[in-house]
Amino acid sequence: MSNTTQKETAPKKILLNAFDMNCVGHINHGLWTHPRDESHRFNELSYWTDLAQTLEKGLFDGLFIADITGVYDVYQNGIDLTLKESIQLPSHDPSTLVSAMAAVTKNLGFGITVNLSYESPYQFARRFASLDHLTKGRIGWNIVTGYLDSAERLIGQKGLKDHDLRYEQAEEFLELCYKFWEGSWEDDAVLKDKANRIFTDPSKVHAIEHHGRFYNSQGVFQVSPSIQRTPVLFQAGASPKGMQFATNHAEAMFIGGDTPEKIKVQVDKIRALASEQGRDGDALKLFAGITVVSAETDELAETKLREYVQYASPEAGLAHFSSSIGTDLGQFADDEAIPYKQTNSIVSVNNRFKEQKVTIADLKAQHLLGGRYPLIVGSGATVAEKLIEFIDISGLDGFNLTRTVAPESHHDFIHYVIPELQKRGRYKTAYEQGSLRHKIFQKGDRLPDTHPIHQFRCQSSDAHLDQIQTQKQTA
Ligand SMILES: Cc1cc2nc3c(=O)[nH]c(=O)nc-3n(C[C@H](O)[C@H](O)[C@H](O)COP(=O)(O)O)c2cc1C
Repeated sequence: MSNTTQKETAPKKILLNAFDMNCVGHINHGLWTHPRDESHRFNELSYWTDLAQTLEKGLFDGLFIADITGVYDVYQNGIDLTLKESIQLPSHDPSTLVSAMAAVTKNLGFGITVNLSYESPYQFARRFASLDHLTKGRIGWNIVTGYLDSAERLIGQKGLKDHDLRYEQAEEFLELCYKFWEGSWEDDAVLKDKANRIFTDPSKVHAIEHHGRFYNSQGVFQVSPSIQRTPVLFQAGASPKGMQFATNHAEAMFIGGDTPEKIKVQVDKIRALASEQGRDGDALKLFAGITVVSAETDELAETKLREYVQYASPEAGLAHFSSSIGTDLGQFADDEAIPYKQTNSIVSVNNRFKEQKVTIADLKAQHLLGGRYPLIVGSGATVAEKLIEFIDISGLDGFNLTRTVAPESHHDFIHYVIPELQKRGRYKTAYEQGSLRHKIFQKGDRLPDTHPIHQFRCQSSDAHLDQIQTQKQTA
């Protein structure tokens, strides 16, 4: 058997992101009240630099920072519980954390969520290109389009744009960013030639031109090419329109789901859709959110879970969920089935109520730790076996690991679970070198030519001159 075949058939190494947010209560609500939880320190830089170093010790591929524009005000028609339980409120800008964390690490990637609906493509592209420079190519972007009416009011718009229209705007936003990142500066434009007083060769910087339905722009980009140029593109579209968008643009996707069997259906669909769009469907990296409580033995992990449960708030979980689906879950009795109502929020999550009978009591049971992600509890070996089984059944590539009691749960995972995954050959034992994109895909720093970005890349002026020369010779 050749080396390449061996590599292809070797079981997948599990990719791992810590899933977090620049706030107190991210996914597992209520746990901020646990005496050992430190998430109330989220506004201190040392909380994040310590976390980044911890994650790097655990060889995490990335810290994935969620974000929302707006507040959760659907539950009980207000924000009282949101404020009391700190359900993603207060929450601060995620990108402000990254330079500091990059300064104390070398390999950890940073996936930053930005809702493009409220950004100017130019300013956004500039900020991310600058971060890619400062982190030496460790930046990813989680592309979201928003789902909160409260955001529209804060921004001063008339109401949430229609779900599918948000994706049409996103298409154009990306096209314009691709022009900025890939179409304005040639790779060898920057010379830094002191003797000849040429910092940048003017013939290698080009104005971009864009006149579209949502955006207009003309001129040169202000940032020279960074290592990756375009950040690694993450997305989580799950509706028909969202999935079409994601499988066209994203390099990595998040899939929501509670069982590996259900997730497998999504995984197969996503890979097939990407292939239909001329991309390598198998190359897409697919992640699911997961919550883990681990300890030295199964029994101790169960004891820890029981302890955590005392502090968790399933009700706060429902308040979060109410905003995700755009329906106030506070209006139903525990045994009442939640009726499906078409809203403009997250279509794919809302569809669940169309497909099955779900009561408030069912949801509360699912939100045992205040969040609705699949929960795995046990010793390092038990958790490792379950994660491997989850990956092998679902066809996923990795997990977004939520925090429970912060930062204790990450310390536990690194201490108990990672060595067991490594023992089973399913987790790296050292980082690959290079950019975030190269670490994840092992195919260099830039997006491949099968990605729609290739049509926006600037042609090098040398190549252009060669082309003119060839045309002259053949004429
Ligand atoms: C794991 C995961 C993380 C997500 N993180 C965010 C986020 O940080 N901010 C946000 O506005 N939406 C987030 N979403 C929601 C997605 O952007 C998207 O709206 C959702 O997956 C539904 O897709 P749809 O818009 O095609 O219905 C996330 C979804 C998943 C599955």
